[in-house]
Amino acid sequence: MSDAYAISVEALTKRYGDLLAVDEVSFTVRRGELFAFLGPNGAGKTTAVEIICAIRRPTSGTVRVLGMDVTRQKRDIIPRIGVLPQGGSSFDRITVRESIQFYARLFGARNADIDGLIRLTDLTDKRNVQFRNLSGGMKQRLGIAIALVNDPEVVFLDEPTTGLDPHARRAVWEVLLDLKRRGKTVFLTTHYMEEAELLADTVAIISKGRIIATGSPDELIETSSNDLRLSLKAVSASDVELIRTMNFQPVRDTEDSVTVRVRDTGDVHAILSALHETGTTLPDMDVRKANLEEVFLALTGEPLHEVAADQMDGGKP
Ligand SMILES: Nc1ncnc2c1ncn2[C@@H]1O[C@H](COP(=O)(O)OP(=O)(O)OP(=O)(O)O)[C@@H](O)[C@H]1O
Ligand SMILES: [Mg+2]
Repeated sequence: MSDAYAISVEALTKRYGDLLAVDEVSFTVRRGELFAFLGPNGAGKTTAVEIICAIRRPTSGTVRVLGMDVTRQKRDIIPRIGVLPQGGSSFDRITVRESIQFYARLFGARNADIDGLIRLTDLTDKRNVQFRNLSGGMKQRLGIAIALVNDPEVVFLDEPTTGLDPHARRAVWEVLLDLKRRGKTVFLTTHYMEEAELLADTVAIISKGRIIATGSPDELIETSSNDLRLSLKAVSASDVELIRTMNFQPVRDTEDSVTVRVRDTGDVHAILSALHETGTTLPDMDVRKANLEEVFLALTGEPLHEVAADQMDGGKP
């Protein structure tokens, strides 16, 4: 087992008293890939990240970063990684440029390319603005710039887009894609499935401390769920009832649209024919594969987000 992997985790377990926060987790992250840890609140993401970054000690298990053991070779690992902590902050009254300079000095990164980092995170216009006057998305991008001051090989970003609006989220995605293009290994935690689906080479789905599936977004969707989703617009209540009598379970998305989980295009055809026979003008429709959110639901029996509590907006690209 060598340097081939940027990160390798074997049977990692963390207990807080009686609580098993991370339960025998194993996975590897290849160099240069963007790896996403996708899971709901309390799944154990931050705990695992903190252990991998040598901030917290594991109860048991082995973690290697760039071929080095995190408990025994912590000092050699720290200079080669960067971290954006969850909900991280900076000093209110210093500017973007000063913040980055401050952390560069703190981490002994004398050669840090401060202006390059400001450009990379698209903060050039804001370089002289104080931290307290930045928007949430700008603060997160500054946090990413700070995580990069030591030009790390592996970057850990713990929920960099949580709470951001779709526009700000996309701006962070741009920065992450740029990091990937520059060959960095990026370890991202998120509870937004479309973020994982869009950005990640590999996704590990974590729930209640355990990894329940790992693979590329496409692989996860292929292996976990072959069914299709048929969405219909402007269908009447009686049409919905008709679909129900055909042994499907239409779910209302909005007032005038429903989604039906079907096995194949034969089912789609059967539903459309039945609607046609009742004299319904065929409605606007869309057939698609399951997404990671639905994969999560199929695997765990629970939604990734509490219903309606954290409605994802139109954050699609
Ligand atoms: N220092 C701690 N002491 C005790 N329990 C903790 C501690 N840190 C986390 N926990 C618990 O461990 C579990 C996993 O928490 P963790 O913060 O790792 O989850 P998470 O996936 O990062 O969640 P979120 O998406 O909300 O950030 C939770 O039940 C949490 O309450
Ligand atoms: Mg967390």
